[in-house]
Amino acid sequence: MLSKNLTEELNLQVKYELYSAHLYLAMSAYCTDLQMDGFAHWFKIQAEEEKFHAMRFFDFIADMGGRVTMMALEEPANEYDSLADVFEKSLHHEQFVSARIYHLMNIAQTEKEHATISFLNWFVDEQREEEKSFGHILQQVKRFGGEALYHLDKELSTRTFTPPVIN
Ligand SMILES: [Fe+2]
Repeated sequence: MLSKNLTEELNLQVKYELYSAHLYLAMSAYCTDLQMDGFAHWFKIQAEEEKFHAMRFFDFIADMGGRVTMMALEEPANEYDSLADVFEKSLHHEQFVSARIYHLMNIAQTEKEHATISFLNWFVDEQREEEKSFGHILQQVKRFGGEALYHLDKELSTRTFTPPVIN
């Protein structure tokens, strides 16, 4: 049984994960406008991952006997200065999400809510990977120009998403 506080905080995370998908679709549209179709595709796949994250929280709350409540999403930024700006802002957003996961983990640990701690462990690892991949592409975008950027766009166009099987 989840506490009221933990239920509210986990519900808020459903919203943040859906907002992440919303934000990354706005970034995808910006990349399409730049004719950077590989980057646009990469962000669409990222948005799918975020929806998957949202649904994991959604299902977890219900599995624990809690009540899911859906909340309004803010409008994300649709305009950016450059591809580097897109990755600066997306990395910054992922750092915010990591801080949220740590916040949830701190509450779960204080409450000794072990099922939630176990559930959140997957997200701690996932956020480390997210920050790494966003940071890596940011460095490449800052360093590359012309031909190299074109090749990176091609490489990003191959990204796929298969929902992982989680026990
Ligand atoms: Fe996420």
